[in-house]
Amino acid sequence: MTGQAEEKVVVVTGAASGIGRATAVLFAGEGARVVAADLDGAGGEETVRIIGSSGGTARFAQCDVTKRGDTEKLVEQAVSWFGGLHHAFNSAGIEGKLAKTAAYSEEDWQAVIDVNLTGTWLAMRAELNHMASNGGGSVVNVASVAGLVGSHGMPAYTASKHGVVGLTKAAALEYASANVRVNAVCPGIVATPMVDRMTANRSDLRDRLVAQEPVGRPAEPEEIAQCVLWLCSDRASYVTGHAMAVDGGFVAR
Ligand SMILES: NC(=O)c1ccc[n+]([C@@H]2O[C@H](COP(=O)([O-])OP(=O)(O)OC[C@H]3O[C@@H](n4cnc5c(N)ncnc54)[C@H](O)[C@@H]3O)[C@@H](O)[C@H]2O)c1
Repeated sequence: MTGQAEEKVVVVTGAASGIGRATAVLFAGEGARVVAADLDGAGGEETVRIIGSSGGTARFAQCDVTKRGDTEKLVEQAVSWFGGLHHAFNSAGIEGKLAKTAAYSEEDWQAVIDVNLTGTWLAMRAELNHMASNGGGSVVNVASVAGLVGSHGMPAYTASKHGVVGLTKAAALEYASANVRVNAVCPGIVATPMVDRMTANRSDLRDRLVAQEPVGRPAEPEEIAQCVLWLCSDRASYVTGHAMAVDGGFVAR
């Protein structure tokens, strides 16, 4: 049986950990050649090792998504290593400091906006330029349920993720005629190092976050990855500009 991403080349940012790693591993298992990009070299190389140990194909690309030169080089690497770029999954992100809006510093605000919003745009800019002039492709960005509704104590994160949803819709309209689909996934609580960091020494917070999930548990990163695979595939050929909640019912309440 052939995989759902056979012969495809996919770039994954934030591939050293969590949702990005799970998606890189899933795509490779479905036959894609994966460029695993991240700031974190050790984690990125570990993702490549995991993929290689199951017979998949991947290479690590050192990339800070806040740096234009890095995101442009990333697409060049995909093309020179694997001959093209068909799908991109932009998962690099940070949670930032937990504090209310009026208690946020400009530095803390800017750090989150730089990675989550500007970094997603810079990655998309390089990806879209290539895809639009090479017959098309599919981009999936990671927003969050915090890109669909408000959240407490994460003003920069919430603003950045609403921005990612808006950016996704704008690019979807602009590139539909170039055969490039652009969508976002909006996860609820996912069991990753990000949530571990946010709830370290605060089991009460973890319990409260999980209690907000109608299904009564956090998602596994693979459950987000499956939606990304579908959104990238031809099975989703008429889906663009969509911000898909993958949230155990969180925003349905
Ligand atoms: N875990 C959740 O509950 C959850 C929920 C909704 C949305 N998200 C979003 O999903 C994405 C992935 O989160 P995760 O939970 O897997 O987190 P994670 O911390 O496990 O992984 C994030 C990865 O992004 C990388 N990264 C950070 N800054 C970068 C930069 N400037 N350039 C390149 N790489 C960078 C990190 O090194 C890390 O490998 C994020 O955008 C996050 O906001 C997570």
